[in-house]
Amino acid sequence: MGLTAEGMKRYRVVVAGANGRMGKALAAGLPEQPDIEVVGAITRATLSEADDVLKGADVMVEFTHPDASRDLMLRAIAAGVRPVSGTSGVSDETLAAVDAAARAREIGAVWAANYRIGGAVLAAIVRLAARHLEPVEIVEMMHATKKDAPSGVSLALARAIVESRGADVSARPVERQTLPGTRGGETHGVHIHSVRVPGIQSRTEVIFGGSEELLVLQHEENGRSDYPATVARAIRRVMEPGVIGLIRGYGAVIGVD
Ligand SMILES: NC(=O)c1ccc[n+]([C@@H]2O[C@H](COP(=O)([O-])OP(=O)(O)OC[C@H]3O[C@@H](n4cnc5c(N)ncnc54)[C@H](OP(=O)(O)O)[C@@H]3O)[C@@H](O)[C@H]2O)c1
Repeated sequence: MGLTAEGMKRYRVVVAGANGRMGKALAAGLPEQPDIEVVGAITRATLSEADDVLKGADVMVEFTHPDASRDLMLRAIAAGVRPVSGTSGVSDETLAAVDAAARAREIGAVWAANYRIGGAVLAAIVRLAARHLEPVEIVEMMHATKKDAPSGVSLALARAIVESRGADVSARPVERQTLPGTRGGETHGVHIHSVRVPGIQSRTEVIFGGSEELLVLQHEENGRSDYPATVARAIRRVMEPGVIGLIRGYGAVIGVD
């Protein structure tokens, strides 16, 4: 960590997945933050040089693929560099390993399925609604080039619903499903329906059924230009003195969980 000309802290950041959509947006946008300096990049082709690139950095921002994410986060922690990850599909087991490694190294780490303020508020409202209403289903509509389904956001919301209720959701099975898969995927009683179409970036709808009432909560994303600012908040948070172990979820980063 260095200081700006005005004596402000300046964080040294490495971007992993630098050739991806998110990596490019972050490598271009993070240097516009007054307290952030991008000092290196890691791509799939330069994975073997990652330890050298990480030397002297404070934070590694990582939006890649679950196959690469665990190793990258653990390598960063071993080098004393705090990972700030947004990779979808990272398992609970990997996040537990990251938490344990960060605690052992006495540094912080962040993983969040959605680096959006509205997304964090949605998750908080969903937790509240889940204590009072069921069944609940999620309909996500994402750009056609998204590689995975369901999205990490939907899985994180399903997890939040079950955690908040303290039990699985009771979903009533249909008697006859004439087209297999029509009811979507299901985790702990939460059905998730993944639409993949061009013409949209990302929309997530959480639908709570009740007795003669329906609660529909919706969050939509329309661009990537704000990610450097929202990810920068996670960088500042993980660099705060006393932050040790994994901060999970953007709500916990910005204090709306
Ligand atoms: N948390 C959030 O708010 C948020 C927002 C948007 C996206 N995401 C998630 O962030 C991740 C990246 O999204 P994206 O849209 O940037 O995807 P993308 O354009 O496909 O980029 C992924 C990057 O990861 C690299 N990569 C893939 N597999 C790898 C491996 N096995 N080893 C090393 N590098 C590998 C790719 O390298 P190559 O270019 O060399 O193939 C690519 O540069 C996804 O999981 C996505 O769901 C999260």
